[in-house]
Amino acid sequence: MTVTLPPKYDAVEFAAVDDPYPAYRRLRETGPLCRGGPAQWVVTRYADVAPLVGDERLGAEFDRDYHRIALGDGPLADFFGHVMLNRDPPAHTVLRRLLGPEFTTPAVRRRRVRIDAMVADLLAVAVEKGRFDAVEDLADKLPIRVLAEFVGLEAADIDAIRPRARTLSQAFATYLAEAERAETVEALLWMREMVGALFEAKGRPAGDDLISRLREVDPAVAERQALIDNVVFLLFAGFATTTDLLANGCAALAAHPEQLAILHRDPDLVPRAVEEMLRFDAPVQVKSRLVHQPIEIGGRTIRAGRVLVLHLGSANHDEARFERPADFDVTRHPNPHLSFGGGGIHLCLGAALARAEAASAFTFLARRFARMESGGPAVRRHTPNFRSYLSLPLLVSPP
Ligand code: HEM
Repeated sequence: MTVTLPPKYDAVEFAAVDDPYPAYRRLRETGPLCRGGPAQWVVTRYADVAPLVGDERLGAEFDRDYHRIALGDGPLADFFGHVMLNRDPPAHTVLRRLLGPEFTTPAVRRRRVRIDAMVADLLAVAVEKGRFDAVEDLADKLPIRVLAEFVGLEAADIDAIRPRARTLSQAFATYLAEAERAETVEALLWMREMVGALFEAKGRPAGDDLISRLREVDPAVAERQALIDNVVFLLFAGFATTTDLLANGCAALAAHPEQLAILHRDPDLVPRAVEEMLRFDAPVQVKSRLVHQPIEIGGRTIRAGRVLVLHLGSANHDEARFERPADFDVTRHPNPHLSFGGGGIHLCLGAALARAEAASAFTFLARRFARMESGGPAVRRHTPNFRSYLSLPLLVSPP
């Protein structure tokens, strides 16, 4: 009897493809599981991925050796062991409670006027010149400026943080090639030192920001280094992902002029458009979880100790859940995409903030411009498991 193995999923190979969604569809058609790396299974269908994201038989905390194998021995493995994304309760519950208050929907709403002002400032160039680069002029700058105010960073630090936060994102791409390790470690150490100095700054006046609050936390509740590492994580998690949402959203609108025309006529549809941008080209394509208790998927039992890679990007395009998933439709509603991780305790902490930034930017663009089209070659950043642009020149014109 011949045993047919499920197809292989290779994140690096998919990263080299501009449009991986047709290939994802073929994987879903062959079955609910693909083979990933050693001891890894990749889950591709919405009906499986959605409940598994919050399933308590799965954990987020991996053995230190797992991080060591993926990232090398040293500070990166140590850092990854601290960040809340990779912690299970009770450590996760403590960190989430400590870092959460700045990022609730009401807290974000209070800062919306500031976000709108930053968007207007950044996009003044588009209004004036009729052209802008969605990455350089908007996506690369807005999220880090916004985060700086939430977290309590000096304006002067922002330009130095941006490239380091990007470099650190390499470590979140599941596997870090040997050649990238040294620069990633350097970026991490720099960011740890910068954030650590803000915790220590004795003369720093207490402000309405995260670090001012975390400085007061009793070390018996959470160690100082764990808090520093989680702030460093926020600077990456809230920056690279939102940058990618803004750029991917601009790319989708430029490729679908009729959808921008709908938004231009009715900017109140922007919040729905943002959900569709998140679904259509999710910045974070996969989530990994460790199996604690055996789980059956498609007649196969996945044993404890195995890793499940939950493919959010594939689930978001599953025709069994979404009508015409390959269409970009800014009026789509409801839109139960999984781009913030679906449900469960790890649901993206910054979802309200990312939505507010995108709503602000796309409301500005939709109100001012009736047309947006390519202004030169777009350059994608081919990073495994993220969808991202390096450059996206656009031409815009009023009605
Ligand atoms: C479009 C932008 C964003 C996307 C697509 C995104 C996506 C995600 C995803 C997929 C997860 C993992 C969910 C899971 O494991 O179930 C996550 C977790 C997280 N995100 Fe975001 N994110 C975005 C923006 C932000 C922002 C702006 C912040 C900053 C405040 C942020 C902070 C976090 C944190 C702290 C976690 C870990 C939560 C936990 O483990 O409890 N994210 N995000």
